[in-house]
This record gives sequence, structure tokens and C-alpha cells, in this order.
Amino acid sequence: MQHYHIAVLPGDGIGQEVITESVQTLEVLAQLHGGFRLDTHEFDWGSDYYLREGAMMPADGPTILKQSGFDGILLGPVGDPRVPDHITLWGLLLPIRQQFDQYVNLRPIRLLPGVRSPLANKGLADIDMICVRENTEGEYAGVGGRVHQGTNDEVAIQSTVFTRSGTVRIIRYAFQYAREHGRRKVTSATKSNSLQYNMVFWDEVFAQVAADYPEIPHEQQLIDSLAARFVSRPESLDVIVCSNLFGDILSDLGAALAGSMGLAPSANLNPERRYPSLFQAIHGSAPDIAGKGIANPIASIWSAQLMLDFFGEHEAATLLMRAIEDVLTARQALTPDLGGTATTHQLGDGIRTQLRTLA
Ligand code: NAI
Ligand code: MG
Repeated sequence: MQHYHIAVLPGDGIGQEVITESVQTLEVLAQLHGGFRLDTHEFDWGSDYYLREGAMMPADGPTILKQSGFDGILLGPVGDPRVPDHITLWGLLLPIRQQFDQYVNLRPIRLLPGVRSPLANKGLADIDMICVRENTEGEYAGVGGRVHQGTNDEVAIQSTVFTRSGTVRIIRYAFQYAREHGRRKVTSATKSNSLQYNMVFWDEVFAQVAADYPEIPHEQQLIDSLAARFVSRPESLDVIVCSNLFGDILSDLGAALAGSMGLAPSANLNPERRYPSLFQAIHGSAPDIAGKGIANPIASIWSAQLMLDFFGEHEAATLLMRAIEDVLTARQALTPDLGGTATTHQLGDGIRTQLRTLA
């Protein structure tokens, strides 16, 4: 029997509330399915840790995660009104993504049954895409600096870094994904009209890689009009490959189209499995609702589902997705973001009850 070791980092704000539901759901699924076991080890890294220790995680945090032999990481959001956002993000999430070479950020954008999109007249078949976001370089490479701070001579520079190897591998991943999952088309998000160096380079690599996948139609579109197309013709989109910043923005837009920030999952993958991959909801720590017990746990539970799928536990992953869809279809025990009055825990329980019914 497969035995998975999972690192759990609940993070900040609503993190603990939603991550608890993912862990409980995985445990129930493992019991019911019987084909695998898992154990979890929780780390209290995040903003409280920062306020206590002066850092978001221990200096050797990634080494601890690597040497403990974890198969996967479940991460809650990080972000706290008491700590500047660039400290929380650069103190935990971005270093893990970079050091674990999690260069693929996979973000399904799918309208689930029972959920209403804010787009009038768009149904399940219309909103079903996957965003393949570059996750280790680009606009979030972290290269830059500030000089003469606070003076009139102040200069702030944030450089974008595109490497050939990094660009080839993310675009290749998108085409490979399309091939393996029977997707219709790959769309590249670009901005090569204004960004005449890095995005022209991106377009060239896109064309070169596309040539290896002659059976998969491909196209590129400028990011601004692509954002408009998300809203006006989402049915015309399928696999979208984008740089770090563009993917970050497009996927929140996609989450809104799919009905709620509380429904959008993501996988941060090191496809070669040299390092553990990380699974997290795309939403933030939602300080406006933190502590109220009303956050939607589905994004987090769906992220755990993506982890099972990555492990190759396809049967269990399919079962879990089915349970999520059934609960949404029944429209019982939904959280306020979906128009219901249920708590985070009640929605999580609803999914676990449905799992027991299906198994
Ligand atoms: P946010 O995603 O936390 O919140 C945006 C809106 O969506 C809020 O109204 C919130 O209540 C709602 N929302 C988010 N998740 C929800 C859920 N599960 N159920 C129901 N409603 C939900 O984004 P915001 O406000 O821009 O950022 C808040 C903090 O989170 C900041 O400190 C930011 O830096 C951090 N953040 C962290 C991320 C991460 O760790 N992956 C990602 C995005 C933001
Ligand atoms: Mg984001």
C-alpha cells in the first residue's frame, strides 16, 4: 500500500479553517478507499511565526521540508494585515516555489455544477479551461532593487527574467498537457507589442515548441484583450499558457468567472518529482472573513484532490471530485460566498458524507 507523507502549512487568516477541512477529507478518503495511507505533519510557519521569530519560516525551512521526505505540501494562504504583503510572500511561498523548482502552476478554471457564474447565459460547457502559469521566474524572479529611498532621487527597478530553458519547459508542459488530456487548443498570453524583448522572445519560443505538436491548434493573444475574451467568450479558450504575472491575474479573473474565489484550486508542480510539489487554493488569507468560520473550503479540498491526482491516485481523486460536484449540485450546506448559510466545517462535512455515500 502506498504511504504518503504530507507537510501541512495552514498559513494565515482563513488558512487553518480551510486546511483542516482538506486534511479531514483526505483522511476519510484514505479510510474509504483503502488503497493508500497518509500521515500529516503540521508546521506553524506564517505571520504569527514571523511576529514571534522575525522570519516567516526557519532559515532552513525548505531544507527541513526536503530532508523529511515529504511527498507533497498542503499550503494555506499567507498574508496578514500586521505584516507587509511582500514580506509574507517572499518569506514563505515564493522561496519554496523557486527552491523546489515548482515551475508549473496549474490552475483549473471550471464552472462546477450547481454554481452560478456571474456571466449571464454561460454554462458548464462554456467555462472549462486550464491556466498553465510559469512559476519560478518571469516578473516574479525577485531581481531588482531600490536606491536613494525616500528621496526625490529614488529609483525602484524590478527586472523580469525569462530564460530559454524556463520558457521552453513551461510552454512544452502546456502542449504536453493538452495532448495527454485531449484538450483542443493552446493559447499563449503575450504582450509583445509593448514588451519588445522578453515577450517577443516568449512568442518565438511558443512558435518553436508548437511546431513539435502539429495536431494541437495554437494561438497567441495580447494579455489585455485576452482578459476581455475571458469575459466575452470563455468558451473559446482551453489551455492557456502564461508568464508568472499574467497567470496570477488571469487565474483570479477565472476564479470569479467560475463563481467564487473560494472554489479555485492550484497545483505548484515539480514535474520531475525531484522536490515535493505544493498544493494550495489560489485565494488569499481573506482577513475580512477570517475567524468567522464561513470561508469556503472547496478550493482547498480541490487542491488536495489535485495532489492525489499528481500522486497517481486517480480513482480516489475522481471520487473526491464527484463528491464535491454532488454537494454543489444539491445546493445544501453551502457557504455564504455561494449563497448559502453553512459554515466552513458544515460544507466540509457535507463533502465527507457524500464520499461515504459514493464509496
Ligand atoms: P483574498 O483572496 O484573500 O480575498 C479576496 C476576496 O475573496 C475577499 O472578499 C475574501 O473574503 C474572498 N475570499 C477569498 N477566499 C475565500 C474563501 N475561501 N471563501 C469565501 N470567500 C473568500 O485576496 P486579497 O484580499 O487580495 O488578499 C488578502 C491577503 O492574502 C493579502 O495579505 C495577500 O497578500 C494574501 N494573499 C496570499 C495568497 C497566497 O498565499 N497564496 C494569494 C493571494 C493573496
Ligand atoms: Mg494570486
